[in-house]
Amino acid sequence: MLHTRICDLFGIELPIVSAGMGAVARARLAAAVSEAGGLGTIALAGLSPEAVANEIARARALTSKPFAVNLLIPFMRPGVLELLAREKVCAVTLFWGDPTEQIPPAKKLGLTVIWQCGSAEEAASAKAAGANAIIAQGFEAGGHVCGTTSTLALIPAVRDTIGDLPMLAAGGIADGRGLVSALALGADGAVFGTRFVASHESAAHQQYKRCLLSAKASDTLHTQLFDIGWPGASHRVLRTPFVDRWETAGRPASGNRPEEGKAVARLVRDGIDVPLPSYSVSPPTEDTEGDIGGLAWYAGESVSMISEIASAGEIVRQIAAQAGEIIAKRQRPLRS
Ligand SMILES: Cc1cc2nc3c(=O)[nH]c(=O)nc-3n(C[C@H](O)[C@H](O)[C@H](O)COP(=O)(O)O)c2cc1C
Repeated sequence: MLHTRICDLFGIELPIVSAGMGAVARARLAAAVSEAGGLGTIALAGLSPEAVANEIARARALTSKPFAVNLLIPFMRPGVLELLAREKVCAVTLFWGDPTEQIPPAKKLGLTVIWQCGSAEEAASAKAAGANAIIAQGFEAGGHVCGTTSTLALIPAVRDTIGDLPMLAAGGIADGRGLVSALALGADGAVFGTRFVASHESAAHQQYKRCLLSAKASDTLHTQLFDIGWPGASHRVLRTPFVDRWETAGRPASGNRPEEGKAVARLVRDGIDVPLPSYSVSPPTEDTEGDIGGLAWYAGESVSMISEIASAGEIVRQIAAQAGEIIAKRQRPLRS
């Protein structure tokens, strides 16, 4: 009942995609989503070709089903696209750059390219450059947000612009109601980010996951505050006590902010030990040690709909069951 052309394009059962989420969406999460019939995505932002190969191997050890990978263009390392082509990944999601420059080289390598964008104009450029599918990301989204239009208005505008090119909606969607709405607006499926941060398989720090359960949409902030490592890029985060202290200080500019310049946390993983300063672009993960309060606790407005940490497979099944029920039952009165 939920089968759409996105399912045919990627060889999946359900039009449910987990977002590429830097440091949080790793092989374990992507594999769990794909095993449940959706399309899991591994975030590979900034990783070397060797690290990318390891992450893909980890996912393939956990599932034989298709999964996608995600690259943030400002952090793309040389050789990674070629490696993804050699690995024959199902699809690569690209975000934050000029589609006319970035898509043709990826297509030339034989990759299936999904372009995440925040406007109908950008979607049109991505289509002209050869994108196989579009993710239209609304302003409500968690993490880095490239546009200014909310999902409800963006999806129909992008659909009207790109004709019948496959499209996924992202931003503000956390359950079956959101998925059905996205389909009604013209999308062929939906991308879920924040919902999967609060899953057992995400690599987010436990404290960060727990905070999502009580947070509401109004507890999120669209800002450029967490700029160390990626200046001038807008994102949506939770209003943590750390964010409150910055606001109370009068929202001072970068360089003059409270607790600025202190390396309070560390990322310790696979033999590396990297200091993470306050206002760092990094979210707190299971590999972060020290004081995580000054890091970016990314969350979208969809956080209002999250009340439990569940396994990723269970989340996929709940979304599908709720969407199926809405389509089968609640719309019946509209038809008779
Ligand atoms: C913790 C977190 C990290 C993110 N990191 C990335 C990333 O590395 N690459 C990317 O393309 N999008 C990233 N995003 C944005 C997602 O791809 C997606 O657009 C967004 O999560 C959708 O909104 P939602 O959180 O309301 O579901 C991130 C989102 C979150 C919540």
